Amino acid sequence: MAPDLALKSPPNVQDPFPIYRWLREHDPVHWSDGFNGWVVTRYDDVLEIFDRTELFSADRFRRVEPRHASRRPEVRVVADVLSEWLVFRDPPDHTRLRALLQRSFTPRRLEDLRPRIRAIIEGLLEDVVADGEMDFVRDFAFPLPALVIALLLGVPSRDIEPIKLWSDRLAAYLGGAVDGRDNFGEASAGVASLVDYFRRLLGEKISSPGDDLMSLMLRAEHDGDRLSHEEVVSNCVLLLFAGHETTTNLLGNGLFHLLRHPDQMDALVAHPELAPSAVEDSCASTVRCLPR
Ligand code: HEM
Repeated sequence: MAPDLALKSPPNVQDPFPIYRWLREHDPVHWSDGFNGWVVTRYDDVLEIFDRTELFSADRFRRVEPRHASRRPEVRVVADVLSEWLVFRDPPDHTRLRALLQRSFTPRRLEDLRPRIRAIIEGLLEDVVADGEMDFVRDFAFPLPALVIALLLGVPSRDIEPIKLWSDRLAAYLGGAVDGRDNFGEASAGVASLVDYFRRLLGEKISSPGDDLMSLMLRAEHDGDRLSHEEVVSNCVLLLFAGHETTTNLLGNGLFHLLRHPDQMDALVAHPELAPSAVEDSCASTVRCLPR
């Protein structure tokens, strides 16, 4: 018998693995009324969808949402910004944006930030030691990604609190709206505030450029092409948002699984060089949600 296929219902969000397994085995290309879209659960099918860009589009804000947007002005506010995001574009636009962003967002640049990221981590842990206890998500997994991305983008640390609030408002809309609220209004207010903020910061970076990602995006050039100011602003919102909730979940899920598998925790402590594959495994449980 088919289980309850309401993908956004609280029990299915709490433990999605049985439903994913059922879908893979019985209905691998499933129409979901809740998502108003197709849910594809087999790995090979997903790869094929990614590869066949002439048939399948990521451009939901230019090609799909406009049909609905006219009825909801708040949707337009969100769609206008999100339609500039790399992740919601198809080739050749995606190829162009990615080439330009790759000029600034390099492994070398992240490596250079390693000591400052380590200092952020040590600062968070020092507070925990002072308190004598911690809630891992609240005290570490939640603040860390925002602090690191702010550092990367060149956002002053005093501005992190409001930015995080606006980004979380957008997350409530993009992340699946599990609580069923009508959150377009909240999402569009969050996006509008983020755009205002990054436009202002852009003005500062133009007059006094630094070595942060936003300044580098402004200077990036590929085959004589550059990012427009609106593209820089929108993709700063993307980078802030994309690395944020995802990494919080990765850290929380990673620790959760290590605590449930103490042999794996011991192996990781004894062999810190296993960290990259431990992160990959946590990513699998975060993104692909494979049953363990
Ligand atoms: C555990 C952490 C993360 C997870 C699980 C994750 C997951 C994902 C997934 C699944 C996609 C593809 C979405 C799609 O094509 O529909 C994606 C794209 C992307 N992510 Fe992440 N992400 C993480 C961290 C980050 C961080 C830290 C950043 C940057 C600060 C970031 C920036 C991006 C960008 C720019 C894209 C678009 C790439 C493109 O379209 O070429 N992500 N991420």
